[in-house]
Amino acid sequence: MSQPKAALQRHIVAKQSEITPGTKKIVEAGGRSIGVYNVNGHYHALRNVCPHQGAELCKGLVTPLVVSSGPGSFEYDREGEIVRCPWHQWEFDIQTGCMIVDPAMRTKSYEVTVEKFDVSLEDGHVVVHM
Ligand code: FES
Repeated sequence: MSQPKAALQRHIVAKQSEITPGTKKIVEAGGRSIGVYNVNGHYHALRNVCPHQGAELCKGLVTPLVVSSGPGSFEYDREGEIVRCPWHQWEFDIQTGCMIVDPAMRTKSYEVTVEKFDVSLEDGHVVVHM
């Protein structure tokens, strides 16, 4: 038998107009630092802690994904959907919280994710549920 989950609390963290497409705001909610991003009109909330060594991940650059079809060739994709940790440059998908890695470069498979929270819009305000 599973235990019932605790109800999530609503945290009004910003006016919708404060976080326009392509921008973010770092807020305090529930005793945690959270980065709230607007990626192409969709809001995402990531815990502002890098799972590597604890840097403030959401202070990192927001970048596109660099993709390559072969040696000497690369292009940018998914503009504004990746955050790069300011300490050691690990990159995370803002939409999923998952680390971006080249699978061919991995010697061990394990999942690295950033804690992610649900976000809603209510009467022009951005609300994080956690
Ligand atoms: S602390 Fe984020 S990559 Fe090392």
